[in-house]
Amino acid sequence: MEIVIVPEGGFCFGVRRALTMAEEAIAGHGGGATLGPLIHNKQVVARLESQGLRVAEEVADIQPGELVMLRTHGTGPDTIRALEERRATIVDATCPFVARAQREAAKFQAEGYQVLVLGEADHPEARGIAEHTGGRAHIVEGAEDLARLRLGKKVAVVCQTTQRLDNLRSLVHDLLPQVIELRVANTICDATSKRQEASLAVARTVDLMIVVGGRHSANTTRLAQICAGTGTPTKHIETAEELQAEWLAGVARVGVTAGASTPDWAIERVVARVGELS
Ligand code: F3S
Repeated sequence: MEIVIVPEGGFCFGVRRALTMAEEAIAGHGGGATLGPLIHNKQVVARLESQGLRVAEEVADIQPGELVMLRTHGTGPDTIRALEERRATIVDATCPFVARAQREAAKFQAEGYQVLVLGEADHPEARGIAEHTGGRAHIVEGAEDLARLRLGKKVAVVCQTTQRLDNLRSLVHDLLPQVIELRVANTICDATSKRQEASLAVARTVDLMIVVGGRHSANTTRLAQICAGTGTPTKHIETAEELQAEWLAGVARVGVTAGASTPDWAIERVVARVGELS
């Protein structure tokens, strides 16, 4: 059986940067806490916890003066203020691309635009971006959500970094006839779109596509949807142990890709296990 590994799969720049910062926090301070899981990968988070970097669910869980890491998805100014009041030592691992989306949203809000964040309403990144507008931005998941809004004359759009370009295109298409002025900040992350394109190209040429990454990871879930959209059977797994021999029956070529928060060792284990089962 031929195994085709998508080279763009796995840790992106922002996740690598956050993990380096976590290692430095562990080495320099003996650990601390992250506000929410640092990245959406249970195995990596468990490894960090075993090294002394625990997950705090909310600000109230942070001890006064404790080191606290802000995760790649970022957070809002109110949360940062609350942490400062607890005299926490803040290590900001917000991905610079997410920080750009936050800045664009704040700028549009200050310039008097009605800000729309194209993203998932319950995702911490989208909520954090909206918090940078003083909570006034509306989070929309797509053009279909426009019907429930009273649109102003001046509207601006900012995207959660993992959004798909076609979703942004369709939102802009539907917004244009409804507003007098429209500003768009394309804050979709390059790493996401490159990974999606490369995975799509492989998915079209294989009999089975395996997508490795956390089930709570928005970019991994979307990657699996995109691969499945080609019609190629696609399996989204978190670990090599989930692989089932019957998936590989009659398969001549299998593709392997991974979300931005999936470590190389998890991908390598999946590739090795596919080899064992074939
Ligand atoms: Fe940042 Fe893009 Fe990764 S936004 S965290 S480099 S997927």
